[in-house]
Amino acid sequence: MARRRQIYEGKAKVLFEGPEPGTLIQYFKDDATAFNNQKHAIITGKGVLNNRISEYLMMRLGEINIPTHFVRRLNMREQLIREVEIIPLEVVVRNVAAGSLAKRLGIEEGTALPRSIVEYYYKSDQLGDPMVAEEHITAFGWATIQELDEIMSLSLRVNDFLTGLFMGVGLKLIDFKLEFGRLWEEEDMRLILADEISPDNCRLWDARTNEKLDKDRFRRDLGNVQEGYQEIARRLGILPEAGPRDMKGPETVQ
Ligand code: TMP
Ligand code: ASP
Repeated sequence: MARRRQIYEGKAKVLFEGPEPGTLIQYFKDDATAFNNQKHAIITGKGVLNNRISEYLMMRLGEINIPTHFVRRLNMREQLIREVEIIPLEVVVRNVAAGSLAKRLGIEEGTALPRSIVEYYYKSDQLGDPMVAEEHITAFGWATIQELDEIMSLSLRVNDFLTGLFMGVGLKLIDFKLEFGRLWEEEDMRLILADEISPDNCRLWDARTNEKLDKDRFRRDLGNVQEGYQEIARRLGILPEAGPRDMKGPETVQ
């Protein structure tokens, strides 16, 4: 296959030029990083699982009319997406205290929050994604007030829906991170959900035992990272065709 033009390489994904204008191919790597790249490892099969899990969740969200960049899965590690202008914000929605919120405010991990909390972080590897307020976002022009309203309302809808979806398969959605992009259609612009939704950017605990099944297994050296992701995929009913032995997936076509 002809070598495709690489548009961008991130820590866990690569974006290639898509087959038609306005499309990209999103390739899921097995690389895992934490603490802004200070910790790095290859988790065999992670890319295959995240491609599947993100496909599944984006499709379910599409069915309830949440606009997303997902078009279709192409193969084990790649999906076709719509090209957007990424808003440089990481939007974190939290239902239960964990991670940086637990640390920052001294709340015991696992404490249910009085209501869902939405936080914004400025996307900058160089600065380590600092937390920012609406004031910074609008003053520096990263998004307008109207866009932030839309981002907040879409994020809460995604949270409501995913909380229920995961609860149905015995998983608690503790928190997660979303990214949004601007899609231009003629003169019109709308915001759509971009990036991925996977155990790399969600905390998911077993509803009965509170066992962590997500990337905290990697961040905190809890072991069996791939098995945690696989269990999430299994519960969603979407393990890759040939089962766990197929995790490595085909070699990358570049
Ligand atoms: P935090 O507790 O470390 O702030 O993370 C909150 C949620 O956001 C958690 O589900 C993991 C996700 N997340 C990312 O997807 N990317 C990041 O760079 C960070 C720091 C968190
Ligand atoms: N993805 C982020 C990083 O590299 C952090 C994280 O997910 O914890 O560093």
